[in-house]
Amino acid sequence: MTQEKTHRPDKETSNLGGIYCENSTWLPEDDALAERLGLPRISKIPDRGSVLIVSEKGLSLLSMDDQGMAMRVGVDFTSGDWQRRIASVRRERIIRAMGRKADRTTTIIDATGGLGRDAFLLAAAGFQVQVVERNPLLAALLEDGLLRAGESRFTRDISARISLTCGDACHYLERQQQRAGIVYLDPLFPAQKKSAKVKKELQVIREIAAGDDDPTRLFAAALKGATERVVVKRPQHGPWLDDRPPSYCVSGKIVRFDIYLLNIKNR
Ligand SMILES: C[S@@+](CC[C@H](N)C(=O)[O-])C[C@H]1O[C@@H](n2cnc3c(N)ncnc32)[C@H](O)[C@@H]1O
Repeated sequence: MTQEKTHRPDKETSNLGGIYCENSTWLPEDDALAERLGLPRISKIPDRGSVLIVSEKGLSLLSMDDQGMAMRVGVDFTSGDWQRRIASVRRERIIRAMGRKADRTTTIIDATGGLGRDAFLLAAAGFQVQVVERNPLLAALLEDGLLRAGESRFTRDISARISLTCGDACHYLERQQQRAGIVYLDPLFPAQKKSAKVKKELQVIREIAAGDDDPTRLFAAALKGATERVVVKRPQHGPWLDDRPPSYCVSGKIVRFDIYLLNIKNR
């Protein structure tokens, strides 16, 4: 993972109680992670709040709500659910929204990485994906998921097509040497009725990244930073981002992809 200099870990992870190790030994890389995220090591899981857990199965975030209900979220692209999704990835609307067949030369910048589900679908279809996620905790969970996907023979090639940068995508887009063909945005939007699992992951993203979003600024940077198209995920009946009508849409039951066609020669 590339780390931009601009991020401040103590701001984004201040609502976390600390980092807890389920393994018998605490490894040097666990120390490095705790330091990078500005988290204290803790020896007991608290009854309330959130805690980052390091275990043999990877990194996960454990959150306890006010009723003491626990919710644990990690990134596992090697699960059976993912295998099934990868097998029929060409039918995914997000792939159709990209409007072209994947080839090695097409890089998509996923400027709102989150837990990387959309990026993984794009890479599974064959695109090279540059993910930018500004929240260091989400970036750490995604980095861990990608590393483990790189160890499985089923997902190794997909993982290898994804690069991750922890930082602000507006800066990233402004500083890129050459504009990307496609920029993809999935800004946070109000909760929808989704499957329990997706809802759980979105809930965690919301908890951690809420208030960080400035989609208008990001949208402007994306329109300047792409040559071919900007694709924006929206709720099915939600307004256009920045009230700007798209060139066309690819709609599903829950979400819609708004496609903004650009016709800009690369610099
Ligand atoms: C709805 S989530 C994206 C979920 C993602 N598409 C997935 O499949 O898991 C939006 C994410 O965008 C990130 N974000 C918002 N503004 C950003 C920016 N300017 N630069 C980088 N990341 C940003 C938030 O931290 C949050 O994780």
